[in-house]
Amino acid sequence: MNPASAPPPTLAHPDPAQSREAFFLSHLALTDFRTYPRLKIEISAGPGVIVLTGPNGAGKTNVLEAISFLAPGRGLRGAGLQDPTRWGALAAAPGQRPAWAVAARVRGPAGTSEVGTGLDPDACAPERRLVHVDGAPARVQGRLSETFAVHWLTPDMERLFQDGARARRKFVDRVAVALDSGHAERVRSYDQAARERTRLLTGPPEACDPAWLGSLEARMAETGVALACARIAAAEKLDRACRGARGPFPGARVQMIGALEDWLAEEPALAAEERLARALASARARDAVTGTTGAGPQRSDMAVLHTLKDQPAEQCSTGEQKALLVALILGAAEVLAAARGAWPVLLLDEVAAHLDRIRRQALFAWLLDSGAQVWLAGADLEPFESLGGRAWFYAVAEGAIEPLP
Ligand SMILES: Nc1ncnc2c1ncn2[C@@H]1O[C@H](COP(=O)(O)OP(=O)(O)O)[C@@H](O)[C@H]1O
Ligand SMILES: [Mg+2]
Repeated sequence: MNPASAPPPTLAHPDPAQSREAFFLSHLALTDFRTYPRLKIEISAGPGVIVLTGPNGAGKTNVLEAISFLAPGRGLRGAGLQDPTRWGALAAAPGQRPAWAVAARVRGPAGTSEVGTGLDPDACAPERRLVHVDGAPARVQGRLSETFAVHWLTPDMERLFQDGARARRKFVDRVAVALDSGHAERVRSYDQAARERTRLLTGPPEACDPAWLGSLEARMAETGVALACARIAAAEKLDRACRGARGPFPGARVQMIGALEDWLAEEPALAAEERLARALASARARDAVTGTTGAGPQRSDMAVLHTLKDQPAEQCSTGEQKALLVALILGAAEVLAAARGAWPVLLLDEVAAHLDRIRRQALFAWLLDSGAQVWLAGADLEPFESLGGRAWFYAVAEGAIEPLP
């Protein structure tokens, strides 16, 4: 059949049970944030689609990154806390500590909040991020994650299926944190204990206290099994959300795989904990040589299968992988929406340029139907033209953002 005459496939609409309320921004203000000395945007769109266009380097991703800092974590670039501070501000105030800040009015199911975050100018080492919610200092994990939800797709993530398993575990972690905000703390605690264990094992033998080593391994076993369980639960939810094809976007099966997952399938968590503690103890000699950790959740991976082709994602073509990735992002957005009772704000950077016309149209239709607030960024206006009249367009250039007529 001539593809040109084929009717465009329609994308399965978002599950109406989940197309509920949405988190959204109505004001955004940046101070000394990357390319922006000061920027204020009022967003009349509410939930709806917002398109940022402008030449490469104009500052589109910087705006999306600023929004991503309204959630716990290091933003969509995984930046160091100092990195976003505008270089011009640093150069203008040698010896001082200018600090970036992002402020926003956010709406969610619980109402409207004024949220602010930024680098703490008074904390040197270690650097600290300040968070205010409605004028009161707040903890990043906790109030901030209750007040706002955001999910993103960036060009870097196109390598998700080729890069190492770490990026895929991070992908699952973002869903797991939305389901249980304690997950981030367990990941941090596990990583810290693992680093300390490696430091002991690779340091001078006389400094390696076996009792201290044993207590670190006990902590790794406990937190490691807990975080593996949280990743398994998140992957199961992703799997259910992604199983069916969404129009031109393929169905995907998602599963955590690894030795720890095999143990947890065979025996209760407590037994898996004891097994992990034993595995760590018996791997000490080898880990002392390699400087790594031979057992635990950092050995696990998120396996993704293209259901129609019955083929692992890493064996799919680049185009198929992009379509799979979009399917995973939409599935993750549905999981988050179900968990939080409202759509997260979606930040989709450079997504339109990499999809063919049919997939682009189908994605736009899904986004418009969802009722989420969606920020799309891309250099050229052309791929977004079919959104005309149904989205808010802004031009980004040289530290400023102007609405397009
Ligand atoms: N801390 C910073 N201070 C000032 N400029 C920065 C900083 N970090 C990155 N930049 C600049 O931001 C620009 C990239 O902005 P970005 O939002 O990624 O552009 P795009 O519109 O292509 O998405 C680059 O020119 C880079 O040099
Ligand atoms: Mg960009």
